[in-house]
Amino acid sequence: MSLSFSLASGTPASVDTPCLVIGAFSLGVLTDAASAVDTASGGAITRRIEAGDFDGKPGSMAMLYELDGVKAPRVLLVGLGVKAEFSPQRFHQACAAAGKKVSALKIASATVWLSALDVPGRDAAWAVRTAALAFDHAAYRYTATFQADAASKASTLGALALAGTGQEAALDQASAMAEGVYFARHLGNMPPNICVPAWLAEQASEFARGHEGVEVEVLEREQMQALGMHSLLAVGRGSANAPRLIVLQWHGGKDGDKPYALVGKGVTFDSGGLNIKPTGSMEEMKFDMCGAAGVLGAFVAAVKMKLPLNLVCVVPSVENMPDGNSYRPSDVVTTMSGQTVEVLNTDAEGRLILCDALTYTQRFEPQAIVDAATLTGACVIALGAHATGLMSKHDDLADELLAAGEATLDRAWRLPLWDDYQKMLESVYADFANIGGRPAGAITAGCFLSRFTEGQRWAHLDIAGTAWESGRKGMASGRPVPLLAQWLIDRC
Ligand code: BES
Ligand code: MN
Ligand code: ZN
Repeated sequence: MSLSFSLASGTPASVDTPCLVIGAFSLGVLTDAASAVDTASGGAITRRIEAGDFDGKPGSMAMLYELDGVKAPRVLLVGLGVKAEFSPQRFHQACAAAGKKVSALKIASATVWLSALDVPGRDAAWAVRTAALAFDHAAYRYTATFQADAASKASTLGALALAGTGQEAALDQASAMAEGVYFARHLGNMPPNICVPAWLAEQASEFARGHEGVEVEVLEREQMQALGMHSLLAVGRGSANAPRLIVLQWHGGKDGDKPYALVGKGVTFDSGGLNIKPTGSMEEMKFDMCGAAGVLGAFVAAVKMKLPLNLVCVVPSVENMPDGNSYRPSDVVTTMSGQTVEVLNTDAEGRLILCDALTYTQRFEPQAIVDAATLTGACVIALGAHATGLMSKHDDLADELLAAGEATLDRAWRLPLWDDYQKMLESVYADFANIGGRPAGAITAGCFLSRFTEGQRWAHLDIAGTAWESGRKGMASGRPVPLLAQWLIDRC
C-alpha cells in the first residue's frame, strides 16, 4: 500500500501532527515555514544553527523535540543547501532524505511543509506531487515473504499531510502515480519462484477485475503458437513455467481513438539459458521482468487517474532456463513478423520475446508504442544507475519522453539508433542475428527491435541500470513508472 495523502491546514507552528518537516538553507537562511517555527519557539532554530548543530547542507538534518509554542512534538529540520543553488534535484533529494528519516520513526502520520517551497523552474503542483512521491518511495517496505511478523517490518507511516494551498489535483495525481510505482515495485521484488509468468498474468487479471473500463486477455502457449510467435516460445521452451502474453486495455478515450501502447519485457528469471550466466551475474536476474512491472505500473497509474485516452499494455512473459528442451545458440527461429533470426546467444533473450510482442501490438493500430526492458548490461555500463537509455527514430516522440523524464526526475538519455549500426546484426544463416557484438550493445539491441516496428511511431527504453538498485539490499525502484505516467498525462 502506498501512503494516503492530504493537504495540511493551519500554520507550521499550530499544526497537530506527530512530526513536522520543514526546510532550511545553508548559512542560516530559513524558509518561511522555518521562520514561523523559529518565531513561535522564541528562536529555537536560530539557536541550534548558532550552536553548530545544523548547517543546512544538502542531506543534513536535525530533529528538534517539544519546542515551546509549537504543537508538533517533533520538528525535522532538513538541509536544502545554498539558496542560490536550489534546484528540482536538490528539492527531491531533501524530500527523499526526510522521507527516509520519518518513515523510520514509529509514527502513523507526518506533516510536510517542504512542499510549499518555491522550486526554481517548477510550479506549486510539481512541488506537492514530488514531495508526496518521494516520501511514499521512502516509506515503501518489502514484507511479502517474511514469516508471521511481517507487520514489524512494515513502516508505521500510513498518512502524509502536505502544505500546498489548493493542490488537491496534484495530490490525486501523486496518489495514482504512487499506486503505479507500488504495483511495479511489488512485482519486481517478488522472488522468481513465486513471480512466474502465470503469476504475473494473475496480478494483471486481478487488477482488471477490480477496475471498470479495463479489459484483460492472457494468451497461453497454444494461442501464441497459432499466432506464429516462435521466437518468444523458443526462449520459454527450457522452463517448467509456461510463458504468457498479457494484454491489458484501458478504454478511457473515445471509441475509435487510436490507443497508446506500452510493451514490457517480462523475463521472470534470466539464467542466460544454455549461454548460462556466471556466478555474480545471475543473482539479480529476478528483476528481469521490471520492464513488464514498469508498463503495468504505468497502466495502473493511468487507470487510477482515469486518463481520457485509450491505452494497451502488452507483456510477453517467459523464464529463460537451461534444459534438454532449451533453444540453442545457432538455432534459427521464425518470428511472428516472418523475419528469421539466428540465435547466437541465448542470453540475448529479451529482444527475442519483445519482437513478437511488438509485432502483435500493431494489431491495435497504436498512435505510439513505447517499450521498456532491462535489455542490456551495456546500457548499465554506458549510463549507470541514473539515466534510462532512450532510443527512437522519432525525434518528436523521443523529446516527449525526455521531457516526461525531466518533469518527474525519472530521467532518460538518448542514444542513437542510426542505420550505421544495423549491419552489426548481419547473419549468414538467417535474416539477421540476435546479437551485434560487444561495441554499442545497447544500441544494437535497439536496432534489433527497430526491425519489428517499421512504420510505427516507436521508442525503446533500456532500464537495465535504473529499474532496481543493485546489491544485496537493492530493491525495485519503480522506474520508469513516473516517466511513462507523465508521458501519458501530457498526451491528454
Ligand atoms: N537481462 C539481461 C541484461 C541485464 C544485464 C540487465 C545486467 C541488467 C543487468 C539481458 O537479457 C542480457 O543478458 N543481455 C546480454 C546481451 C548479450 C548476450 C548480447 C548482456 O547484456 O550481456
Ligand atoms: Mn539475458
Ligand atoms: Zn534478460
